[in-house]
Amino acid sequence: TSLKNAYRKDFLIGTALSLDQINTTNPLATQVISREFNSITAENIMKSMYVQPTKGNYFFDTTDKFVALGKKYKMFIHGHTLIWHSQLAPWVKEIKDSVEMKAFMKNHINTVVSRYKGKIDSWDVVNEALEEDGTLRKSVFFNTIGKDYLVHAYKLAAGIDPKTDLYYNDYSLCEPIKRKGAVELVKYLQKSGAKIDGVGEQGHWTLNSPSLEQIEQTILDFSALGVKVAFSELDITVLPNPWDLQGADVNQNFENSEKMNPYPTALPESVQNQLAKRYEDIFKLFLKHKDKISRVTFWGVNDGQTWLNDWPIKGRTNYPLLFDRQFKPKKAYKTIISLK
Ligand code: XIL
Repeated sequence: TSLKNAYRKDFLIGTALSLDQINTTNPLATQVISREFNSITAENIMKSMYVQPTKGNYFFDTTDKFVALGKKYKMFIHGHTLIWHSQLAPWVKEIKDSVEMKAFMKNHINTVVSRYKGKIDSWDVVNEALEEDGTLRKSVFFNTIGKDYLVHAYKLAAGIDPKTDLYYNDYSLCEPIKRKGAVELVKYLQKSGAKIDGVGEQGHWTLNSPSLEQIEQTILDFSALGVKVAFSELDITVLPNPWDLQGADVNQNFENSEKMNPYPTALPESVQNQLAKRYEDIFKLFLKHKDKISRVTFWGVNDGQTWLNDWPIKGRTNYPLLFDRQFKPKKAYKTIISLK
């Protein structure tokens, strides 16, 4: 069997694709992607700094390839992302007034969403609009247009492709304060007559946080608003968080620090088992609420390629995904399959 077949009746099983994987440079990667997953998200290339790096100059070569790959394998294609303060085209960061910012939003959303109208099944319209305390982030969008930029973005996207699902996507939504902010954000969009179909909780998690109770509450709180719930960027780090170390400088090179990079060559069996157990608990919970969950997407295919080898500090050896560096299924993979 495969992940996508095991969970076929429950929810979509997705993965994020790197540029290499979109270009299908590694046949083994393509084989695993097409066998295991029925949904794809572009890890980077659909972000504004790549799609419209300078005003009016759009680059669609790789995004076209990404969509063609999804069509070839009859996958659900998720678009990530239209409006985000990070990996934002530098010229947009310089915009100072609301007229110009609204013009950017209109042109960008119109151009990108209409190019893939009927092909991209759901979009992260706005990504990471909230601060940790649940208030709106003072991004360049907020600073120029105000809170209304959210309504503007969702209305524009719905006007172009009324059938694609429109998501709000963010991290740490299992934290009660931030979740409350996201609930208010969704209610605000709904009250303003904007179309909002779902919330994506990114799911960059650790072996013990967030708790299963918090994850469950997140599913319940968002679905109570009448929107779909997706886990859009799932990965579980097994490495220590540098911010937990008092006085740690995250810019320091931790490559050779045993404390920060404890498993440079292999993951000890005990931690492998902990990871499998954590994924097991999470997927049990997802299955319990399968009627509310539209999609679970892993943020990458294998441990060799995960962004967590380089974030929040560079040069570590992390093991957050279901396939090892040789694309072999790990214990966590088998555990998730065995739940079915
Ligand atoms: C990450 C990519 O995985 C990295 O390759 C890139 O350098 C930075 O962005 N939240 C998101 C994703 O919404 O787009 C981010 O992806 C991870 C955090």
